[in-house]
Amino acid sequence: MKRKGIKIIIPKRELDKRIRELGSKISRDYAGKEPILIGILKGSFIFLADLVRQMKIPHQIDFIAVASYGQEVVGSGAVKLIKDLSVNIEEKDVIIIEDIVDTGLTLNFIRKNLLLRSPKSIEIVTLLDRKERRKVEVPIRYVGFAIPNEFVVGYGLDLAERYRNLPYIARVEGARLAQRKFEL
Ligand code: IMP
Repeated sequence: MKRKGIKIIIPKRELDKRIRELGSKISRDYAGKEPILIGILKGSFIFLADLVRQMKIPHQIDFIAVASYGQEVVGSGAVKLIKDLSVNIEEKDVIIIEDIVDTGLTLNFIRKNLLLRSPKSIEIVTLLDRKERRKVEVPIRYVGFAIPNEFVVGYGLDLAERYRNLPYIARVEGARLAQRKFEL
């Protein structure tokens, strides 16, 4: 795929600045606690790596991965866990780290799943928030950037597994968001 349809919308210096702010804010809000940060694979891996290096309090990290059941339930919110946590979160302060919230279906599933494990608290951090396409409301405590209704790549986000390594967020011209299948 050629690079020419890629247009930077959030440059690296803005990402760095915002992630520093988020790291400081979360550290202040969780002072005296030791939260478990749970990254949703794969898209959050770069955001999580940068965010934890801006955290000033002790914390743990873990990962969870989900996938859709298949074509017949596209958009239904029916997701399955394909990689579970490796730690027990009972009575722990949990912070879910997501790359982008679009319809909200993924986060809604993960949040409900984690709540069944009796954590002390659960909050959500997302780097990007595309509110316009929301189907399910999920409570998001920390948002990096609100973005318009365009498909984006870079900084962990992919288009058919490409572009995750770009150090910025870019929009992909010609990508049709309305036809994005529910795949993770
Ligand atoms: P939701 O369940 O519709 O909120 O979708 C969230 C997931 O879809 C994210 O974790 C991403 O993996 C993926 N996703 C949504 N929008 C985009 C995008 O613009 N670029 C790349 N991945 C996206």
